[in-house]
Amino acid sequence: MHLRRKLVVGNWKMNGSRAALAELGPIAEAARAAPGVDVAICPPFTLITLAAARAGGILIGAQDVHEAESGAYTGAVSAAMLKEAGARLVIAGHSECRARGRETDETVRAKAAALLAHGLKAIVCVGESEEERSAGDHVVRVVAQLLGSLPELSGEAELIVAYEPIWAIGTGRTATPADAGEMHNAIRKALSGRFGDAGSRIRILYGGSVNAGNAASLFAVPDVDGGLVGGASLTAAQFVPIIEAAALS
Ligand code: PGA
Repeated sequence: MHLRRKLVVGNWKMNGSRAALAELGPIAEAARAAPGVDVAICPPFTLITLAAARAGGILIGAQDVHEAESGAYTGAVSAAMLKEAGARLVIAGHSECRARGRETDETVRAKAAALLAHGLKAIVCVGESEEERSAGDHVVRVVAQLLGSLPELSGEAELIVAYEPIWAIGTGRTATPADAGEMHNAIRKALSGRFGDAGSRIRILYGGSVNAGNAASLFAVPDVDGGLVGGASLTAAQFVPIIEAAALS
């Protein structure tokens, strides 16, 4: 029995339509055939309710949240709204959101805290830029970003971390298993330092150009507890082999 179940999360980003929800059928079928793996899809906000109605055992999530409960925040969506729409887990601090909204670690921490307070699983994303890696600062930078972005653990809601090197997102370039291993190990140590025993139960996902060809080698790395998958989650044909790789790891 593994300490942590594998988790494979599809992040559809600003892609998808009602027609794309047809992909959920075969994805749910693959999830049922892989009982040791948790599978989630995060479609755009507009599709959450429809996706939740036909989730068939996969978790439906969201890609971002506002940290406030309610108020004059035009265009934003709160944790309570996402929960009511049918989301069970939510990404906070994706590098595309951090860059676009100039989000600080403090904002990401507040978002994650709001999610946990509403009983939603929170996926906190961290990752270094290409410059930080070239300078050899990647581990120090990511651990600092992580510690700045982590909420207090509260209640039963689950905190998840996703390590996504920015240079690997949507580029077709992936961290090597050795690079991922170095970072996931550092993240695990930071989580244990921060949360003690509870830190060893937090799942750490790898994200950045995960696909059918590289998933198995990444999921075999110690402390890689699954993946956060963008482009290769848009169709069942590409996503199902990633679920199967997680089941075999
Ligand atoms: P990618 O995206 O798999 O398309 O690189 C991953 C992510 O941004 O979560």
